[in-house]
Amino acid sequence: MALTSVTNVIRTKLDVRNFSQKDVSWEDKVSILDAGRMAGSGMNSQHWRFILLDKREDLQKLADLSITGKWVSGANFAVVVLTDSRYAWHLLDAGRAITNMMLEAWSRGIVSCICTGYNEEALRNWLKIPPNLAIAGFIGFGYPVKRIIGRKNRLPLEQIAYYGRFGEPLRK
Ligand SMILES: Cc1cc2nc3c(=O)[nH]c(=O)nc-3n(C[C@H](O)[C@H](O)[C@H](O)COP(=O)(O)O)c2cc1C
Repeated sequence: MALTSVTNVIRTKLDVRNFSQKDVSWEDKVSILDAGRMAGSGMNSQHWRFILLDKREDLQKLADLSITGKWVSGANFAVVVLTDSRYAWHLLDAGRAITNMMLEAWSRGIVSCICTGYNEEALRNWLKIPPNLAIAGFIGFGYPVKRIIGRKNRLPLEQIAYYGRFGEPLRK
């Protein structure tokens, strides 16, 4: 069977934390946000909200407030993803929207990485995030500095997928 482009994107995509200075077009930014909007959510609740940041000083401030995402200071833009934590599955929904955005970006030659470590309180105050919304994380996007040559480091399928019962080998 021929590999679809979706298969190709899923299998090649890596999280990248180094970005070139090249600008991402406004159209690409909007398409990436729109890919997030297209994600399914529990009960089609669509409670996620996205904040786009692309001013240099905003990206620097985001980096300053982050613990494990200092690299975002070099990104071309970032998207902060908010969810309504009243929904038990809100972080699953966030994950689906984030994945859509990252895969859409990759298919356009734009790399990205997610960050989940930051000073939540400071981020909330700075971005005027309402108290009913949780911060699921932010994603930094941009063009890569150089061609990405990397391999995914993943456990073998047999180690994580079973057949019929937990622990049973995946065999036809
Ligand atoms: C839920 C989640 C949280 C993550 N948080 C961070 C983070 O705070 N900072 C960071 O640099 N990378 C973060 N990452 C990126 C992971 O380190 C990365 O997905 C993993 O190493 C696999 O990278 P690869 O797809 O390039 O192989 C996070 C990834 C996930 C899925």
